[in-house]
Amino acid sequence: QNSDSRTLLKMYEETAKLYNHILLKTENGSGALKYLNQREIDNDLIKTFNLGYAPNNSDLLLQFFKDRSISEDILRKSGLFAENEDGQLFDRFRDRMMVPITDEAGNVVAFSGRILDKNASTAKYLNSPETEIFSKSKVLFNLSNAKKSIRDNQNVILFEGFMDVLSAYKAGVKNGVASMGTSLTDQQLYTLSRLTNQINICYDGDDPGVEATYRALTQLSDERFTYGVISVPDQKDPDEYIRSEGFEKFNSLVKNGVQTPISFILNYFRRHYNLNNEHDQLEFLNQSLQEIVKLSSPVEIDMYVGKVADEMNVSKESINKELDSLRRSNA
Ligand code: UTP
Ligand code: MN
Ligand code: MN
Ligand code: MN
Ligand code: MN
Repeated sequence: QNSDSRTLLKMYEETAKLYNHILLKTENGSGALKYLNQREIDNDLIKTFNLGYAPNNSDLLLQFFKDRSISEDILRKSGLFAENEDGQLFDRFRDRMMVPITDEAGNVVAFSGRILDKNASTAKYLNSPETEIFSKSKVLFNLSNAKKSIRDNQNVILFEGFMDVLSAYKAGVKNGVASMGTSLTDQQLYTLSRLTNQINICYDGDDPGVEATYRALTQLSDERFTYGVISVPDQKDPDEYIRSEGFEKFNSLVKNGVQTPISFILNYFRRHYNLNNEHDQLEFLNQSLQEIVKLSSPVEIDMYVGKVADEMNVSKESINKELDSLRRSNA
């Protein structure tokens, strides 16, 4: 670690502390605190995740670090500031609830700031830019906290959003992480592979979340892992589900509701096709067989061949014949 990196780490740590103080201890933070409490994020959770509030002030942080004689060069490298047309720096995060992002060792290396106002016209979450200490493709939100629980549970739960991780934690599910709005990178998979070989995807239950789950399952063919899917009902995201249905129901979803990839994918196809229509029935069968043929366990293959045969009213023999010819053409 060079001396710039050390200075940046110190700056992020101090910034997180400052934003947390403003949220919990000052009148300036009362609106954000109210917002969080409305979302059922209490002071314990705020402390655990070191949440904060960046006030609606364009040079609060700038003055804070100028007072500490931080050089202009480092200020620019920090990513904590943006630059106006005249080249002047100003605080990047203003009037946002602040979520610190930590590296694997627990050092704050970035922030994501959420707007409080639903109707604001800017992005809901504003993320830190890449810096000497932060590379979005390497970091997983909450990994430093979740490590022990990932090892203990022998699986990691992959959420879409920060708030899902927080609510799950509150519900006692502490092995959750989130990638920051992107699909898992090779580096993130490598990091996870040192802790566990089971990844359970628990994305939002809405259409984009279901599509992202399908994409993830068809792209993640990493041999180091077994994948599972935790589908959240009623188009809800995990945070919404936990708050409306309670901790216990979420815990039992996590414990008993892990689907195999093939089971999720077949359900996905079922929703996608109109199974009252013969053309779609054939498409459904074709697509399903192309997924079933990828399975390696004979028992699993036999089970899903049986399911699809029953469902489509065709014989297992004819399905097995189709699978054989698929295998031949794939070979
Ligand atoms: P969602 O749109 O599902 O947001 O995006 P959310 O997590 O449910 O947020 P709340 O509950 O309204 O606060 C999922 C994730 O995608 C990233 C964030 O990491 C977010 O948690 N994202 C989303 C961004 O980075 N920027 C955005 O503007 C929106
Ligand atoms: Mn979403
Ligand atoms: Mn949400
Ligand atoms: Mn969501
Ligand atoms: Mn078609």
